Amino acid sequence: MHAALKLRRLDVLDFRNLARVTLEPGARFTVLFGENGQGKTNILEAIAVGCSGKSFRTAKLPELLRTGTARAILRLRLDDDGDERVQDATIGSGSRQLRVDGKRPASLAAYALRSPIVVFHPGVLEISQGPGQPRRQLLDRLALHADASLEESLLGHAKAQRSRLKLLMGRGPDARELDAYEEIIVRHGSRIFEARKRICAEYLPLAEAVHGRLAPNAEPLAMTYAPRELSPNAFREHLAERRTVDAVRGMATVGPQRDDLEISLSNRPARGHGSQGQHRTIALALKLAEVEFTAGLRGVRPLVLLDDVSSELDRARTAQLFDHLAREASQVFLTTTRAELIATPDDLLAGERVDVEVRAGELVPKHC
Ligand SMILES: Nc1ncnc2c1ncn2[C@@H]1O[C@H](COP(=O)(O)OP(=O)(O)OP(=O)(O)O)[C@@H](O)[C@H]1O
Ligand SMILES: [Mg+2]
Repeated sequence: MHAALKLRRLDVLDFRNLARVTLEPGARFTVLFGENGQGKTNILEAIAVGCSGKSFRTAKLPELLRTGTARAILRLRLDDDGDERVQDATIGSGSRQLRVDGKRPASLAAYALRSPIVVFHPGVLEISQGPGQPRRQLLDRLALHADASLEESLLGHAKAQRSRLKLLMGRGPDARELDAYEEIIVRHGSRIFEARKRICAEYLPLAEAVHGRLAPNAEPLAMTYAPRELSPNAFREHLAERRTVDAVRGMATVGPQRDDLEISLSNRPARGHGSQGQHRTIALALKLAEVEFTAGLRGVRPLVLLDDVSSELDRARTAQLFDHLAREASQVFLTTTRAELIATPDDLLAGERVDVEVRAGELVPKHC
């Protein structure tokens, strides 16, 4: 069993509606409760930005700054299997400054890979409800955890696809340089296909199994990743064949940016058929499986941030979810409007569960 990454203390200055906040989390569970619009999700977002440099709610940095202020400061004290470190994120309206023990990381990606987190938030529902992009992102993010050097292929592939398309639209399907761009696309693209396939072979059965536990008597979940380009040669030929079509449509129609992860419940596509609770269950299964999977890849259990996790779930699924979390060895953070609904084991030791009320951007410990 891998040790769990632990957040020991979070200090926040001028982030969203949090003017000055310090959180000392529970060793296992931290329950952030309060009325709507008080700042509960903002706390999870602060943890996520501190760990990954990025928000799960917005790509626009100015939105993160408390209204009327010019920068937000986050400081996280983390315990990574006995190795303590401090991560600092200072967010300005146009830039972010990230530090690990005072040192600048090599890149945003290097910073984000350091302290793994798994976040469940309403946007995650898009994975089974929406278009293919969030599904591909999920696979690519996991693949990056397995092999950080895949970043080079993801960036290289996207760039070569853009260059090929520009050339096709500007000079047509006979432009000489197309062969060279297509070679780069095949090289990087094949690596992306392979990486996704490897991830899927382990991760998808894990997610299906978690789904089976969350909804034991309900529709079975089945997921398949079926890349269209089965070999580099077929890929190369397909690119050449589609030059005219791509030029006319102004779209790159061949490559891993077009693959999909198919998600079905009882053999029917979840997208378009699933109910809200069913989508939520799928999203939870994907995220809880991601916790296991990331722990295996990274050798440390990620922090688990669950925003408003149990709404829309029926009684049986809620009970299964808390049963799963009771056995979860990661440090878990939950937000809720009703703390009494968060069922954690009865035999927790002192300090293992901390409940904090969030009220108008301030933290109010429960016993006050
Ligand atoms: N940049 C900002 N500066 C100041 N306040 C902000 C900023 N961004 C958001 N807020 C405020 O933060 C509050 C929302 O916080 P948050 O989303 O954390 O609420 P919540 O407690 O999770 O509520 P809910 O239960 O509805 O999900 C709102 O009152 C909003 O006005
Ligand atoms: Mg919220």
